[in-house]
Amino acid sequence: MPANLTAALARALDARRDLLARLASDHTDAFRLFHGTAEGHPGLTVDRYGSIILVQSFHDPLSPAALEALEAFYAAAFPGLDLFYNDRSHANSRIANPLPPERQQQAETRREFSELGVKYWVQARHAGQDPWLFLDLRAARRRVMAEAVGKSVLNVFAYTCGVGVAAAKAGASHVVNVDFAESSLAVGKDNARLNDLPIRVRFVKSDAFAALRQLAGIGQPKMVRGKRLPPFPELAPHQFDVVFLDPPRYAKSAFGVVDLINDYPALFKPALLCTKPGGTLICCNNVAQVDRDAWAEQLTRSAAKAGRPIREMEWITPEEDFPSLDGKPPLKILLMRV
Ligand SMILES: C[S@@+](CC[C@H](N)C(=O)[O-])C[C@H]1O[C@@H](n2cnc3c(N)ncnc32)[C@H](O)[C@@H]1O
Repeated sequence: MPANLTAALARALDARRDLLARLASDHTDAFRLFHGTAEGHPGLTVDRYGSIILVQSFHDPLSPAALEALEAFYAAAFPGLDLFYNDRSHANSRIANPLPPERQQQAETRREFSELGVKYWVQARHAGQDPWLFLDLRAARRRVMAEAVGKSVLNVFAYTCGVGVAAAKAGASHVVNVDFAESSLAVGKDNARLNDLPIRVRFVKSDAFAALRQLAGIGQPKMVRGKRLPPFPELAPHQFDVVFLDPPRYAKSAFGVVDLINDYPALFKPALLCTKPGGTLICCNNVAQVDRDAWAEQLTRSAAKAGRPIREMEWITPEEDFPSLDGKPPLKILLMRV
């Protein structure tokens, strides 16, 4: 089994030679080295973030022999990088393998890496579970950087604000990031500080529904069916040139339900109304079981119903370090001129 694994890692690295050369000239030292689902080991991923190699297992833990084989392979391929293994095969994908105290401390040490000339912070381990930048979204950040020059950008479900910071670095005139997690926005603020940004980026800690409804001019009531909603920051109506929407699969709050399988339009409609006429709305859907074309049709109907028909659409596909066997990557990114 370790021999099979080593052969699969070698094939994956070989398949990325051209991509890695291009990324190096793009000032990018973060990429997926092994995408197990499509490269012979479902549930195993290996990512490079600058000086870190981050190995994650989602279905089963790696055996000690497999981990050893993996460490030997990457020590030879990328001498000097620090490899960490996070076993996330247990409940809620929580990291379950303890590290010796000294390694834990190294895992929690902040380090910088670079993507498309934008700097970001990374830690192999922190209070949350997911790494601070999702690498499959690089294609979208690349596109936003090309779109954002001189434009205003709204980044909703911002997490660590990768899209917003990249837009600001590229020359956006105004950037607003919205997320309800203070801890994620705090990393976003640190990411912004790490870059020499020409503008002051905004960070709004708010439920996405409350922010979108207010910015769209629909308004967010403070009471619903006689019950007072949790407090939320007040925002004046404002439309943006570019709106980026990257919700999680499912999340329920007092303000609404994020449900990418059954009700994308609940988010799409207010996001559309936050987009200037003639502007660009970019929507993501990372649920594998949602069919790309059915989803696009649903958004097309929803836009027409809202009186803001989609004039043009374009798919943004993850780059070659996220290969897919059937040409249907789970992460679907749709750019719409509205
Ligand atoms: C899929 S991640 C977004 C990834 C991000 N766009 C990026 O570039 O890496 C989902 C984010 O949505 C946030 N979130 C989930 N439900 C929310 C809600 N109702 N309002 C605001 N933020 C929410 C979470 O805190 C998390 O940061």
